[in-house]
Amino acid sequence: MERSVGIDQLSFYVPQDYLDLADLAAARQVTPDKYEVGLDQRLMALPAPDEDTVTMAAAAALPILEGVEDIDSIGALLVATESAVDHSKATAAFVHRLLGLPPTCMIYDVRQACAAGTAGLRQAAAMVALEPDMKALVIASDVAHYELEAAAEPTQGAGACAILVSAQPRVCELEPSWGVHAEETFDFWRPLERITPVVAGKTSLLKYLECLAGSWQHYCDRGGSPELDACCFHLPFGAMARKAAHRLARESGGCMEDLRYQSGLQYGRVIGNTYTASLYIALCALLEQGEPQPGQRIGMYSYGSGSLGLYFSLRVQAGYRAHILGARHSRMLACRNRLTVAEYEQRHATYGAVPEAASMNASPFRWAGIEQHRRLYESRDTLANAMEASGG
Ligand code: CAA
Repeated sequence: MERSVGIDQLSFYVPQDYLDLADLAAARQVTPDKYEVGLDQRLMALPAPDEDTVTMAAAAALPILEGVEDIDSIGALLVATESAVDHSKATAAFVHRLLGLPPTCMIYDVRQACAAGTAGLRQAAAMVALEPDMKALVIASDVAHYELEAAAEPTQGAGACAILVSAQPRVCELEPSWGVHAEETFDFWRPLERITPVVAGKTSLLKYLECLAGSWQHYCDRGGSPELDACCFHLPFGAMARKAAHRLARESGGCMEDLRYQSGLQYGRVIGNTYTASLYIALCALLEQGEPQPGQRIGMYSYGSGSLGLYFSLRVQAGYRAHILGARHSRMLACRNRLTVAEYEQRHATYGAVPEAASMNASPFRWAGIEQHRRLYESRDTLANAMEASGG
């Protein structure tokens, strides 16, 4: 890619409700250190009954769109998800209407488990490189939902991250080398009829690390420089980054021994797994809490079960601090609502069920129900107008 293309802005959304893993540990009669130290996780975000992949995706993108002067410049919307609400209709189609994007904006979904966000970013960057006047919006949005009392239960979570891709990016430039490692595996998958995935937990950890080694090697073989200042990893749970950093140190013959990755864990620790969004929420944390210097290089590892590893790198832009949304993100994480284990279990039992009319999540959008097989969404504005018209 000859032109400068990359991330112009990043914004994430997490549901307002969460479960404290110390409460879950007590309920499951597990020592709290297993979650807090062993997995390096504290809290997990839980979607309200009327929020899903669509509402979270739209909520994540809204703060970015508020700053876009010419909405018609957005020529593509790519949504990456592995918890889509329809087998055929693109999540992007619902989100396109909620965000009021122009009819000239191409819409489609990208899928390859948790690596789909990165696949979308790469496609969006290629489009912008061809047509530098356009911008592309990539949104990664997911609910990580496992069975009660399963080994994976403490690694649930929910959230979305929106990435605006442009020429002359204001936050991070994408570097040209990409490393890829793909192989078919059954480590984590969700057959069409299931709402929870099937997880081969230990195999998934091994595959994550094998794909890291393979994609890192490919990145280096294609001219990617190993001289990185920091790294973000796909984050199913915090301790996975520690394992990944050790593996990278080994693969690089020790030259990546002191790689900085800790500040990238700060948000994921209190949100949980967000599948496609987790790597980009980690990037937000690194930029907003780790404050890298302009010009520094950040390695990025994306892993999607099934399996695909992608390794690439970013260069932090001069003046990036004026364009990140750290204060907004910190406020959102600070103003949340702690559920009891009983409330969590009740919500888990009705996961995916049509929400009651009275329920209302804290975001600007809600899933309003299903009519004639059509999934309906509303924005707060529409709701307020309808209530005003009915005198409510
Ligand atoms: N104090 C400190 N540490 C403790 C402890 C204690 N009292 N008790 C246990 N631990 C440690 C264990 O030693 C272990 O650490 P190591 O891995 O470093 O040895 C850690 O806590 C977890 O303990 P277990 O291995 O016994 O945990 P588990 O088998 O019950 O479950 C899991 C762990 C397999 C990751 C499970 O949570 C799971 O299946 N999660 C979903 C799958 C997943 O996230 N896979 C990640 C790779 S795949 C991917 O990344 C895609 C994706 O997003 C899903």
